[in-house]
Amino acid sequence: MVKLDRIDEEFLKGRFGEAAAKAMEIIVTIAEALDAKQLIPIVSAHVSGISVSNIGEAGVLLIEELASGGGKVRVPAATVNPIGFDVYGLLPRTHEEWELQSRVIKALQEMGFRNILSCTPYDYGNRPTLGSHIAWAESSAVLYANSVLGAYTNREGGIVALAAALTGRIYEWGVHIKEERVPHVRLEISDSIDDELLGGLVGAFIGIHIEGIPLLKGSIAPDELLLRNLLAAAGAWGNHSLIYIPGVTPEYEKVRHSVTRSLSISKRDVLEVLDRVGGLTDEPDAIFIGCPHVHRNLVNRILEKIRECGGSRIPFYIATCGCIERQIVEQARKLNVMVLAGTCPVVSNLSRWGVKRLATNSMKAAFYLPRRHNVEVMLGNLHELVAAACSSKR
Ligand code: F3S
Repeated sequence: MVKLDRIDEEFLKGRFGEAAAKAMEIIVTIAEALDAKQLIPIVSAHVSGISVSNIGEAGVLLIEELASGGGKVRVPAATVNPIGFDVYGLLPRTHEEWELQSRVIKALQEMGFRNILSCTPYDYGNRPTLGSHIAWAESSAVLYANSVLGAYTNREGGIVALAAALTGRIYEWGVHIKEERVPHVRLEISDSIDDELLGGLVGAFIGIHIEGIPLLKGSIAPDELLLRNLLAAAGAWGNHSLIYIPGVTPEYEKVRHSVTRSLSISKRDVLEVLDRVGGLTDEPDAIFIGCPHVHRNLVNRILEKIRECGGSRIPFYIATCGCIERQIVEQARKLNVMVLAGTCPVVSNLSRWGVKRLATNSMKAAFYLPRRHNVEVMLGNLHELVAAACSSKR
């Protein structure tokens, strides 16, 4: 049975309001189901699952109920994931759909969340430090937090991360416990992994074939885009929450000798994953970059490249934070580039964009787009995708 502190009991009794009591009930119910021993304080929360395309009206009402019940963020940093539409209205949406989505944003804001509308909270001030306990939903961000920042979080569901934000508490379970963070298998990669598509393929390979926590060994280029693609892919194609990466994961040196099982793979093994999806062998209808979201700096670099060739010949979508400036979005529009502020194709209504064949560099997008939106995906790295955008004959 979970041991509750006095503060936990006070939450349950309603001392901090109706919404906080409800949030604590959620945390305690799950703690009991998992047989967690106690609750622990957290310093950060990140909430996913707020796109109306996913949660519908029932989800909106639940979030509004927490706000009207006096729910308030009780952690130093609390941010939220992308929504179902871009904030500048480039994507098709009805008045009613936007109204519904706006109600979610308003309710979250009232509770004290920062509406960054991005899956890379670590780029926007929600960057927990080594060893801090946090409650994040959004698998790609969870993997980044554990594997790059050395923070401690399980893969929480959106509503649990929300409840954790309103109480400042989470159950001590899974990778919150040091002993549960010990790697299980050493994955020796014989060839160097040097671009983001290859990184994503390694991540997908891990998701498909590796059980337990992997510790990678080999030459993996210290490139942020590669790293994000690798981690996001492992989270999408599998259920991982932590991967030890040489030169990246802060606790790598401490734990690397504790692994007893080894597996060797080569570039050829990971390229087999590419066969499941398909390379850039044909002309796509459109191109998509930004799963996980790309930072403003990369948006600007891509725009620069596309400007050099006089604009993209096919629609080019880039997903990024809801905080990107309107001026960048408008400049991009002139180059046939749609900068999607605060959303992404996966959580949006992609089926209404009229796109059937989408080229991307993201193995996470390659997992979800065919399954959720029945879209054919073709893969290329950023360099190849920009070249395709500049030379398409469509
Ligand atoms: Fe982010 Fe959407 Fe991909 S939320 S990780 S861009 S599926």
